Amino acid sequence: MHRLKLDSEETHTPAYSGRSFTHEVPKYRLPAQGMDADAAYQLVHDELNLDGNPALNLASFVTSWMEPQANALAAETLDKNLIDQDEYPQTEAIHERVVSMIGRLFHAPAHEQPTGTATIGSSEAIMLGMLAHKRAWQRRREQAGLDSSNPNMVIGADVHTCWEKFARYFEVEARIAPMEAGRYTIGAEQVESLIDERTIAVAGVLGTTFTGQMDDLASINELLARLDTQRGWHIPLHIDAASGGFIVPFSEPDLEWDFRLSQVRSINVSNHKFGLVYPGMGTVVFRDRSDLPEELVFHINYLGGDMPNYSLNFSRPSNSVVLQYFNFLRLGREGYQRIAATVIENAKALAAGLAKIDGLSLLNDGSRFPIVALTADDPQSTDLTALSHLLRERGWIVPAYTLPPKAEHITVLRMVVRESFSRDMAEILIHDVHNALHALRHGGRDGRPRKRIHC
Ligand SMILES: Cc1ncc(COP(=O)(O)O)c(C=O)c1O
Repeated sequence: MHRLKLDSEETHTPAYSGRSFTHEVPKYRLPAQGMDADAAYQLVHDELNLDGNPALNLASFVTSWMEPQANALAAETLDKNLIDQDEYPQTEAIHERVVSMIGRLFHAPAHEQPTGTATIGSSEAIMLGMLAHKRAWQRRREQAGLDSSNPNMVIGADVHTCWEKFARYFEVEARIAPMEAGRYTIGAEQVESLIDERTIAVAGVLGTTFTGQMDDLASINELLARLDTQRGWHIPLHIDAASGGFIVPFSEPDLEWDFRLSQVRSINVSNHKFGLVYPGMGTVVFRDRSDLPEELVFHINYLGGDMPNYSLNFSRPSNSVVLQYFNFLRLGREGYQRIAATVIENAKALAAGLAKIDGLSLLNDGSRFPIVALTADDPQSTDLTALSHLLRERGWIVPAYTLPPKAEHITVLRMVVRESFSRDMAEILIHDVHNALHALRHGGRDGRPRKRIHC
């Protein structure tokens, strides 16, 4: 175990941590003694340089840039726990305003105060939404004197892993409508045969993780409305708007995907995606209070006052909620509209540039969601996985992966265009993809480029 020696070299603060350490720094056991704060900072800072650069990470939907004023607010609120509602009543008031603004943005019924909560992300939001539907379904069955075991939910293979996580963790059978070559979303036709009286909810996605496309939500809504009338099955439609929830309301305000559809009872959104706040923030909103069974809401009083709480976690940072409120005030509807239009324009330009490269075809041209997805015309001569690795050498993080079941033979390269990705960066990326593909096709046997990539 290394001990910091208090010899003359270490009596002054080291400008660089390397000056303090000639021995190994403990990594897996708590060091017996501490070290100078500057040295600790520098050590951790240096290690993190090995991470990818968030600005070049096109794999992620998550916000990697906010304005300096937001950074200041984030730092000022680092010490406040969102759960301490009684101690931080103003933070809680801001939390309620944020949920309310989102509920109204998604057209929750005007006569009600929108019901919902901030979460750590869409995964927690989806779990909370689905838990509410599971419990409501069980109570309905019990009240009707029917068996309430073996609940199921109907989802497409295009859903994010968190849906399958919910199924496994909370013991709900996942009935999954497969994809097929050329169709990477679902509609009523794909889900109808999977639904029965034990279906607690059907999921529809606004902007899928895999291709950035949208399920046919209107047709699923119609189907569920029909099943309600004809068979008396009250099956909620939950919309997973993780990535689309802060794009579509601004880019296509007339598109009815939200509570304007009669069977939509809950919606989740990742605020840390196009809500434009740093990671750690999602929201679930319900159509109205009756969708959240009262027995799931905990009333806690040991922090003072009555604190109603519906969450999987107890403590959590408050700063992402504060940052969301900052963005709502700072940008307003007009600002979000402008940013949604810009990211879509940049995605379209990126897609158009990449489409000109020989051997690549667009699966998503970025014109509805700022997501560009490509396939190889001939996977033998255009290895997208190798391309992704070559781009990584240049700094770009652009994932290549296979599509979900029944379309798993198709590999796609996907790029998420965020606010921090400019047209200038799009042009450089197009150039780099072009060069990397050239190197792959004409490089040495190891596939490494012979020519240096310049841009
Ligand atoms: C459609 C969809 N749903 C859910 C999630 C999970 O979201 P989060 O990372 O906010 O938990 C994602 C993440 O990318 C997603 O794309």
